[in-house]
Amino acid sequence: MRTDDSRLHIAIQKSGRLAEQSRRLLRDAGLRLQEGKNALTARIENFPADLMYVRDDDIPTFVADGVCELGIVGSNVLREFELAERDSRYEILSPLGFGRCALKLAAAATSDWHGLADLGEARIATSYPHIVRDFLEQRQIAATVVTMNGAVELAPRLGIAPFICDLVSTGATLEANGLRPLETLFESEAVLVRTRGALDEARQETMNGLVRRIGGVLATKE
Ligand code: PRP
Ligand code: ZN
Ligand code: MG
Repeated sequence: MRTDDSRLHIAIQKSGRLAEQSRRLLRDAGLRLQEGKNALTARIENFPADLMYVRDDDIPTFVADGVCELGIVGSNVLREFELAERDSRYEILSPLGFGRCALKLAAAATSDWHGLADLGEARIATSYPHIVRDFLEQRQIAATVVTMNGAVELAPRLGIAPFICDLVSTGATLEANGLRPLETLFESEAVLVRTRGALDEARQETMNGLVRRIGGVLATKE
């Protein structure tokens, strides 16, 4: 879909916690999305823009590189990318009011906890190693970060690490795994993000129109 260079490219999560609400927001903004099952891209019928359905961890890269001029992604994913890649070629245009969750330190519900000093040099399993390391460094805590790509909540039971740091929304996953939250490291929600690079006039116009429409949708929800 790079052949027609005047179209805008919008990256959204293919499946996962933000996928459905990202599509709904664009529909509420008046965009008619062609819904092809399993399609990785979708043409917007009434707007010079194409949707790219991708993994949320890839959205910061696509937007920073300018492959997609706009994206909808969790601010936690953006922050992890910024710290990991030292790349801030993106600009957050607006929080979107959905996908709220928090990156929290947690441990066995039965464990004793008086505060961060209790971490000592313990291991912490997480899928957000850069956010966690940044947090530890700022507080001069010598704990060790163990990176896991999923099922982080299993780490304490498997003996991988007594602590985890993972996203908490309802808290049901922590509870189901016999864990309890101890500290909040980062509050997250879905944000609209654009590439920092300059756009040609046509695409900038398209982006302005889309951002205005999204702003209108958000205003009705306040
Ligand atoms: C997150 C997180 C927990 C779960 C917490 O996973 O890793 O597993 O959500 O939500 P809860 O507090 O409502 O139970 P997500 O669904 O984002 O998938 P992922 O782990 O594959 O990224
Ligand atoms: Zn295209
Ligand atoms: Mg998970």
